Amino acid sequence: MTKRITILGSTGSIGQSALEVVRRYPNALSIAGLAAHSNIDLLLKQIDEFKPDWVAVSDPHAAHQLSESISIPRLFVGPEGLEELASQQVDVVLCGIVGAAGLPSILSAIENKNRVALANKEPMVMAGNLIMDAARHHNVEVLPVDSEHNAIFQCLQGHNIDDVHKIHLTASGGPFYRSSREVLKNVTPEEAGNHPTWDMGAKISIDSATLMNKGLEIIEAMWLFDLPLEKINVVIHPQSIIHSLVEFTDGSILAHLGVTNMTLPIQFALTWPNRVKSPMARLDLTTMPEITFAAPDFSQFPCLAMAMEAARTGGTAGAILNAANETAVAAFRDHTIPFLGIEETVKSVMKTSTFEPVDTLEGVLEADREARQMAKDVIRSRSMA
Ligand SMILES: NC(=O)c1ccc[n+]([C@@H]2O[C@H](COP(=O)([O-])OP(=O)(O)OC[C@H]3O[C@@H](n4cnc5c(N)ncnc54)[C@H](OP(=O)(O)O)[C@@H]3O)[C@@H](O)[C@H]2O)c1
Repeated sequence: MTKRITILGSTGSIGQSALEVVRRYPNALSIAGLAAHSNIDLLLKQIDEFKPDWVAVSDPHAAHQLSESISIPRLFVGPEGLEELASQQVDVVLCGIVGAAGLPSILSAIENKNRVALANKEPMVMAGNLIMDAARHHNVEVLPVDSEHNAIFQCLQGHNIDDVHKIHLTASGGPFYRSSREVLKNVTPEEAGNHPTWDMGAKISIDSATLMNKGLEIIEAMWLFDLPLEKINVVIHPQSIIHSLVEFTDGSILAHLGVTNMTLPIQFALTWPNRVKSPMARLDLTTMPEITFAAPDFSQFPCLAMAMEAARTGGTAGAILNAANETAVAAFRDHTIPFLGIEETVKSVMKTSTFEPVDTLEGVLEADREARQMAKDVIRSRSMA
């Protein structure tokens, strides 16, 4: 049986890797739907190759451009179009949109009983309770694509979550692992986007450089595996060979090793519960570099500590942290603030915010909107100082 797949964010780094996996198995996987924001040139090529039944384009101007260039059986337009696409019945919806924009379509996929393969971590940070409650209510699986969470998911197969003592999320440390705070002051967006071991989209690469990415992943792991913060540890492992580890109550530790190629976790999520032979380059155990581990330095990378604090606080804290970070990262990429301006902006927003329990999408989106405005105000007053 061919599995029908919808890819949200097909023009991004995750989306393109997912299409590479689909290309490998033409008899087992096929594309039902594709969604992008505004990269029409690439989307047109993907439509030509994969011939989807449905396409969604969230930027209405770009959608208009696309409809002028090609005839598609069904084109969904705007942010609501993404939700409509996600609601169409398929075997798996792969969520590879970047940022908060992906939240409504993840919920739409789940509410319409579509299995979700989740790369888009920001919505989990904002509204993990809503996503996982909906998944339980509709009896839908949320399979992790993020390499660390996919590694943990693999290590947990056949095990009971109650037997987990701790999970250890590995972090490469990013491009500035051993840099001084003095050096960090002058880092450019190009340097920050140059990850030492993974080839990823612009936003996640910068999150990896501040270590906010690992903080977001802690919150993502809490929701995905229903674990308290105390059972999640971060360990710096610069070689990125071990993608994460699970330590059980008897002292055994299981680790997942592999090459740094996102098609590995994507393939596992798309073909799960089966394992399928892959043509990918293999990890050579005899020639790989020595593997090392170290504790993270929270004073060097305060974003990690702020994310842990948000995890401890709960409620709207995740949405506020994420919104402040997305706004600050965009400003850094625009050269409006320096690299350390990201942590300063998030710190300022978190310090002046009040956090409340939240159990509705509207409540989460309201917290997100307010925090974005607060972050913009911080950035504006900073540039005027
Ligand atoms: N890249 C990785 O290796 C990796 C690994 C683990 C987890 N993740 C997570 O996966 C997600 C995607 O990351 P990425 O690196 O693939 O990002 P990316 O390369 O920047 O791609 C983002 C995708 O989202 C679309 N998009 C952007 N803004 C949108 C909006 N407002 N509404 C709808 N779609 C929008 C983009 O469309 P256009 O191209 O048309 O703008 C593109 O298809 C992130 O949450 C990231 O943290 C990524």
